[in-house]
Amino acid sequence: MAVERIVQEFDEELDKQLDNSLRPKDFDNYIGQERLKKNLLLAITAAKKRNEPIDHVLLFGPAGLGKTTMATVIGNEMGRGVRITSGPAIERAGDLASILTNLEDNDILFIDEIHRLHRSVEEVLYSAMEDFKLDIMLGKGPSAKSMRLDLPKFTIIGATTRTGSLAAPLRDRFGLQHRLEFYSDEEIAKIIRRAAKILKIKIDNDASLFLAKRARLTPRIANRLLKRVRDYADVHGKGKVDLPTAEKAMAMLEIDELGLDPADRRVLVTIIENHNGGPVGVGTLAAVTGDERSTIEDFFEPYLLQIGLLERTPRGRKATSKAYKHLKKPMPKQNGDQTELI
Ligand code: ADE
Repeated sequence: MAVERIVQEFDEELDKQLDNSLRPKDFDNYIGQERLKKNLLLAITAAKKRNEPIDHVLLFGPAGLGKTTMATVIGNEMGRGVRITSGPAIERAGDLASILTNLEDNDILFIDEIHRLHRSVEEVLYSAMEDFKLDIMLGKGPSAKSMRLDLPKFTIIGATTRTGSLAAPLRDRFGLQHRLEFYSDEEIAKIIRRAAKILKIKIDNDASLFLAKRARLTPRIANRLLKRVRDYADVHGKGKVDLPTAEKAMAMLEIDELGLDPADRRVLVTIIENHNGGPVGVGTLAAVTGDERSTIEDFFEPYLLQIGLLERTPRGRKATSKAYKHLKKPMPKQNGDQTELI
């Protein structure tokens, strides 16, 4: 069993409820993702002018970067509510039919983890997205009849951590396709200060930047760290988050200056000490932490790749020289190393 990690979404429902109060409601309050916001704002303004729904939107990128938040912002900017569901929650074509026939013109349906839709559901979705028609089969065997229903003109916003796992015909039906990028430390510090204001937490600027550097470029983790530091300040401090309080709270959580927790360090140390720096298959890494392979791929690896501690090669993952330095491990001597000759 994998251990609970502050850097991971271990209680999705609770986390989402807590974060609802922190979610920005419109583009003005949404910090970062400037290119995406500019493109979406253009599409939304044009659609509103024509009194049409906006094109279907596919948002992809690592977990915690704000895909669901962006979907609700799009809804608010369009002046529509957003119905939220997920790929695995729609089990049969009939489930999808019931959701779609209950929508109204210009409504928005958000499908999280859209790469996990069942194949049979996916096929029904194609024609629904393309020409707002629903093809359903009534009955079975020789007496079965197919029926075509008109649907309202809706928008699908799909979210996925992996575009590679999405079938091409589905992917092609999204007119707008955008990757959410990791945030800069300054953007994360701003997000922390905004959340602190909403949660009525007093935090110094140097403490918010200190936390930002440990939040793995990810708003969801930043907000989680802020809440843990608040707990620490309420119990051990003066109820205010200053730099020494933030430092002590992070030391207690064993989160280092790059935002790595003990499980991250264990993964890197295993590659370095047991596998001579790699390459190592993801399955091996998953065995080290006790996580599912997909958890490693979706939650932990993207950040380690982004900051250059891990490298992806055709034969597996390798620890980089930056990883050796960070963990204070000596680099192995390479066979026939030419750099020594220079
Ligand atoms: N809270 C979480 N993500 C945010 C963002 N991008 N902007 C503002 N507040 C946030």
